Amino acid sequence: MKKLPHVSALKVLLNSKRILKNPLPFHHENFEKLGDTFRISILGEGKVLFSRDADLVKQVLQKKHRYYSKSKLQTKDLAKYIGYGLLTSEGEHWRAHRRMIQPAFHVKKLKGLFSIMRNAIVAELERIVPSTEQDVFALMGDLAFQVVAKSLFSSNDIREPMSRLQHITEENQKMLIREMRQPYFKWWYKASGEIGEHMDMAETGRDILNDLIEERLSSGKEEHDLLDMLLNATYEDGAKMPRRQLIDEVLILFTAGHETTANALAFTLYFMSKDEELQRKLFEEISSLEKDNYTWEDLSKLSLTTSCIKEAMRLYPPAYFIDRVAIEDNEIDGLHMKKGTLVLLSIFELHRHKDFWENPTEYIPDRFVAMNMKEASNYYYPFGAGPRMCVGNAFANYEMVMVMVEIIKKYHISTKMSRVEINPMISLKPKEVKLNFVLR
Ligand code: HEM
Repeated sequence: MKKLPHVSALKVLLNSKRILKNPLPFHHENFEKLGDTFRISILGEGKVLFSRDADLVKQVLQKKHRYYSKSKLQTKDLAKYIGYGLLTSEGEHWRAHRRMIQPAFHVKKLKGLFSIMRNAIVAELERIVPSTEQDVFALMGDLAFQVVAKSLFSSNDIREPMSRLQHITEENQKMLIREMRQPYFKWWYKASGEIGEHMDMAETGRDILNDLIEERLSSGKEEHDLLDMLLNATYEDGAKMPRRQLIDEVLILFTAGHETTANALAFTLYFMSKDEELQRKLFEEISSLEKDNYTWEDLSKLSLTTSCIKEAMRLYPPAYFIDRVAIEDNEIDGLHMKKGTLVLLSIFELHRHKDFWENPTEYIPDRFVAMNMKEASNYYYPFGAGPRMCVGNAFANYEMVMVMVEIIKKYHISTKMSRVEINPMISLKPKEVKLNFVLR
């Protein structure tokens, strides 16, 4: 059996200040020094296996997925705030709900959401003040939240309750990141009542959603939005989802679906603002669409726009780590994976691995235009892979292309920023992306 290189708990402790700020440079140094897979000892967590090895990633997520479950980062730490829905549950509970929810995200069904999504996007983009510098990351955050909100609650008047829910989601996420980065202070967060306060906030979020669901049911109307699809979905025995489960699934769609999309859009727009020639080509491609009358199918043909988004998610994958834990002893490429091993798959590092990408740190959307995506799926994982792959990936892709279309056809964008600072939280965010929007 192979023996893995190891980073000691002392080394982690000595670097704890910079790890807390941004763990990625520390991980990168270790990958460069120790190879594509190594172990780290973390106080309070024990030994954790880190990997950017393409084959190991594939085995854990796909070929040997039966030997792995999500770690307690998702199934306990995150679940205590957002409940046990698709993202955070395991086993039969997860399978039953995936079977119910997945059809709502099928491209055929999503087509029915086209105008809802587009109207939500156009309404949010009205907030752009032309010829003024604006933080596009905050704007994309609100936009992506509204797109999920409107796709779920198309008929309700949701601005006020949704801004309360957005605040709760974001505050709880900040708490969770403190728990994850400083597991040795968790006892204090519990004892001081901080965790309890955030769990109460999550309950308030559930009440907000419950009121909106009640409103829908009492209206007696069919809206053909995501909420209707979830209300009508049935288990194999024909029963409907209990209310608490439905609320948790909705809470999870907000959590999983808004920030990830906002991050990817903010990075894509940043790269666009830095490259005049690319922006010109993108405008040309987008101008081929009928002005306000394009369809879902037209969007699928925008290969440069799509490639710009893919390349931004390569360099800055919103889900920059995927966590798993071995639930049974197993072996991967001569490596003994003991039951209980926590595995962190660094999608960030794999997406910049020089074995797979030429000029890995450069933003080159053209590489995706001619790429064989089947081949790339061995080392490109923005939406994960295997049975737990993102259920909202088509939703996100269409949403992101639509946003790019609506922005680039109306504005020329530029920035004074020389580089974008990253902020790796639960997802990989930019600190800010200040852009100037000039009407075309
Ligand atoms: C650019 C945007 C997005 C990215 C990069 C992204 C990424 C991911 C990734 C990597 C996973 C798998 C996590 C794992 O295996 O541990 C995942 C799962 C999930 N995503 Fe997304 N996501 C995005 C947008 C969305 C949207 C828009 C929705 C819904 C509206 C959504 C809902 C979910 C759900 C429910 C899961 C859990 C699926 C399951 O375990 O069955 N995501 N996402």
